[in-house]
Amino acid sequence: MTETLTRSAYLMELEDNFGAHNYHPIPVVLEKGEGVFVWDVNGKKYFDFLAAYSAVNQGHCHPRIIKALITQAQKLTLTSRAFYNSILGEYEQYITSYFGYDKVLPMNTGVEGGETALKLARRWAYDVKGVKENKAKIVFAKGNFWGRTLAAISSSTDPSSYGGFGPFMPGYELVDYDDLIALELAIKDPNTAAFMVEPIQGEAGVVVPSEGYIKGVRDLCTKYNVLFIADEIQTGLARTGKMLACDHAGVKPDILILGKALSGGTMPVSAVLANNEVMLTIKPGEHGSTYGGNPLACAVAMEALKVLKDEKLAENSEKLGIIFRSEMEKLKMECDLITTVRGKGLFNAIIIQEKNGKTAFDVCVKFAENGLLAKPTHGDIIRFAPPLVITEAQLMDCVAIIKKVIKSVA
Ligand SMILES: Cc1ncc(COP(=O)(O)O)c(C=O)c1O
Repeated sequence: MTETLTRSAYLMELEDNFGAHNYHPIPVVLEKGEGVFVWDVNGKKYFDFLAAYSAVNQGHCHPRIIKALITQAQKLTLTSRAFYNSILGEYEQYITSYFGYDKVLPMNTGVEGGETALKLARRWAYDVKGVKENKAKIVFAKGNFWGRTLAAISSSTDPSSYGGFGPFMPGYELVDYDDLIALELAIKDPNTAAFMVEPIQGEAGVVVPSEGYIKGVRDLCTKYNVLFIADEIQTGLARTGKMLACDHAGVKPDILILGKALSGGTMPVSAVLANNEVMLTIKPGEHGSTYGGNPLACAVAMEALKVLKDEKLAENSEKLGIIFRSEMEKLKMECDLITTVRGKGLFNAIIIQEKNGKTAFDVCVKFAENGLLAKPTHGDIIRFAPPLVITEAQLMDCVAIIKKVIKSVA
């Protein structure tokens, strides 16, 4: 074994020995990233086709975002919300006008954004809709994923998420995804505060609903005076070929949750956007977070949002997504290892059937050996979500790697 190989083995062993075993990573140890590329500790270069679950839409270590981070870090990083700070208001004005809402509530991780949205929905149900105390119901779609807290896993239908962690949060109801009839039945109940849904289900394996579903959700929520909460933490910020996945349907949710790429992958930054009728139900002292709205996050998020627009990343995602899916469809015709190709923009997945004892995980290990990083979700689904700064030439290099590996396994 060479010295460098020993180093990666050593680093994996360190994680194994001293870290909790709550992940099963592809055996690659990364130490550098730039744009669509990452390098491992042996200096091997890879195309990143996961983009940290779509947190790195703007590409690794985007120079403008890193500059904003460093400049602000040298000035002021955290004040807590006990005081005003010189950049929070500017950020709040920027992001609310960017997405067209009255107000924003800044948080850190995605799951905190989800929790915030649900608290707002419950409070709105009591204060505005007139639901009796402790009776508010929130409806979710089966197959949802919005994080790992107890409130989040209480809505999960994936046993590896919720199994062994009960008891669970009351006041939830689940309906099938992409089923407007089931949704209507559930939200007719006058105690319903909200329906929370991902416009395309990410962790479930990039599940794209039927044309008309999201518009139907909007219409039903309006009809029954129920808040439509869009979890755009993974689908938002140009990933699916529009700034928001809801833009494909031309609808606006009552509560919009953003995270991940809101910092371009530099730090946890999430945001909940809503109009005054919803947002002003929460009063001082009733919700918050030590780091939420910190000056560093504000500077980074503003720059990350500007980069999305300046570099036309939604347009690039839309254009290259069409090319990518058509290449994958061709591969599917040639190779029965692939059973399904689906996605929108540069948010795509293939489903593969197990062949010669090779699982999706094994296929991803082979991708890595050939210089492309992807990760399976739910056993047989491989998600492809590169940074949106990828060029057409780079995408075609990736397509060549994917084709070579898939054909070799098949
Ligand atoms: C749609 C969606 N919502 C929420 C989350 C949770 O985000 P975080 O891991 O930052 O808490 C995720 C994470 O993958 C997600 O995909």
